[in-house]
Amino acid sequence: MKVGILGTGRMGQGLGDLLRRSGHEVMLGSRTPGDTPFPALSLGEVIARSEVVLVALPHIAIEPNIALLRTLAPGTVVIDLANEVRVEDGRLRSALDEPHGRWLASLLPQVRVARAFTHVQAELLVSRATRQPDTWAVAVAADDADALAIAGELVRSARYVPVSVGGLDQSSVLDPGGPLFPNMYLPGDMQDLIGGKDA
Ligand SMILES: NC(=O)c1ccc[n+]([C@@H]2O[C@H](COP(=O)([O-])OP(=O)(O)OC[C@H]3O[C@@H](n4cnc5c(N)ncnc54)[C@H](OP(=O)(O)O)[C@@H]3O)[C@@H](O)[C@H]2O)c1
Repeated sequence: MKVGILGTGRMGQGLGDLLRRSGHEVMLGSRTPGDTPFPALSLGEVIARSEVVLVALPHIAIEPNIALLRTLAPGTVVIDLANEVRVEDGRLRSALDEPHGRWLASLLPQVRVARAFTHVQAELLVSRATRQPDTWAVAVAADDADALAIAGELVRSARYVPVSVGGLDQSSVLDPGGPLFPNMYLPGDMQDLIGGKDA
């Protein structure tokens, strides 16, 4: 698959490496593609060339780039990795009053939004997948069945086990403040915790 990743930070680079190893054609999109120590394209080039797009940008970078994101072809599957975190009573919470994926889907009604990888810490993302492949669960959520299937396929390609938590309205479990964030679970433990099923 031609996979575009917007954002070249810890999540973007880590997932880029994992997905490339599984044979996907991965394009990383940067604000400054000429300055990165690895090949990158502009955000617009990645949007134009990709079959599926992962949003690995800080939450605060999404609205300033919304005009660009609205150039995504209708029906494109967009996997939202972004979190907006605040601290309340010493605990991490989402700063939004709705699931992050629902928020992004309302801004981008032309695409099919899925949510995945948001509860995985960047520090563990590559090591768990490479040292213990096909072992740890990654929760996925989407309203659209094809988007859910593609998110599940990419999770498998990254050498994790996808567990579906349902649609975007159920996806707050993998947002900050949800029971999965920021933890790793074995698939059965995740299913017991949130009632998810194999994706
Ligand atoms: N870190 C984690 O453990 C973790 C886990 C799950 C989810 N997440 C979420 O995943 C997203 C990415 O996290 P990360 O840890 O990879 O972040 P990061 O290391 O800070 O990287 C984010 C990247 O986004 C790009 N960027 C930053 N500001 C931008 C702007 N104003 N406009 C366009 N692009 C901008 C930058 O790439 P360029 O400089 O190349 O443009 C930057 O490298 C965040 O929303 C985060 O909450 C993080």
